[in-house]
Amino acid sequence: MPARVILDTDTGVDDALAIVLAMRSPELHVEAITGVCGNTPLDHCMRNIHITLGVLDPPAVTEVARGEDRPLVRELAFAGDIHGADGLGDVTRMADAKGVRIYPDPVQRISPVHAVDLILERADRHPGELTLVAVGPLTNVARAIMRDPDRMGCLRQIIIMGGAFETGGNVSPVAEFNIHADPHAAQIVCDSGIPLVFVPLDVTRQAFLDAEMIDRHAKEGGARATFVRDCTARYVAFHRRNRGVNGCFLHDPLAVAVAVREDLVTMVPARVDVETAGDLTTGMTVADLRSARWGEPNARVCTALDVQEFARMFEERVLS
Ligand code: BDR
Ligand code: CA
Repeated sequence: MPARVILDTDTGVDDALAIVLAMRSPELHVEAITGVCGNTPLDHCMRNIHITLGVLDPPAVTEVARGEDRPLVRELAFAGDIHGADGLGDVTRMADAKGVRIYPDPVQRISPVHAVDLILERADRHPGELTLVAVGPLTNVARAIMRDPDRMGCLRQIIIMGGAFETGGNVSPVAEFNIHADPHAAQIVCDSGIPLVFVPLDVTRQAFLDAEMIDRHAKEGGARATFVRDCTARYVAFHRRNRGVNGCFLHDPLAVAVAVREDLVTMVPARVDVETAGDLTTGMTVADLRSARWGEPNARVCTALDVQEFARMFEERVLS
């Protein structure tokens, strides 16, 4: 039986690719996609979820719910320089020779139920079965824990794309974007007692999508590969300029891949906490991966990846 998942996303470029991977993975049953602000404002996030679902053939159907439009405590901070003004690599501005938009505003079918209520309702309905894959700031997840920790305790696990443990950060020397965007939410999740898996930059920087591979598939003209080329063009340019690689990192798709196949990664148990008060270190994920002497483990942290096997999965399911 497919594993039940909810994908909680701040739909930027790699989130969109994570949605495609999740919807095209027969091992998963995507109960819902819930939006949260992060890479881009919540309205853009919701539009981007629908654009992405619409690219699939047939268009993918799942419940889509709006979540939180601001972090618990911190000021809003988007990532337009990386994900574009629309959060999706500026595909919403692309037009054909006649000036017709290639990715027009989609019809949005948004659940009347708020994301936080939807997560709680599904956790309760499927006790011990539901995995929450969180690939944006953890605001929705923390709000759900604050509202009803008992029902959230019914989750099987939360897989979090977030953190940087034995590598540098991407928004500061020590902090990763999703955790930095709402560190107070992340600490609430760390304290929740729910089984947690961190998929941090340590491994997502090994989950690499080569620009030449994108082009090769896009030349064949398929809708998915064309969408991947269109929405990653700007993201790849960012990586070329700032990371010195010809391609891009698949942070969020790797979190989905871990929900599909845990054996793609090596994990170690650790006590993870988040810096919420530091001047220089806000959003840092603090853990000693060498031993458990700093406290009872509250999470498993991914430390290594089967790079080839993940690349094969992504190519087969998303690009082909
Ligand atoms: C994370 O931040 C966002 O920019 C990406 O979508 C990913 O979730 C990587 O730090
Ligand atoms: Ca994301």
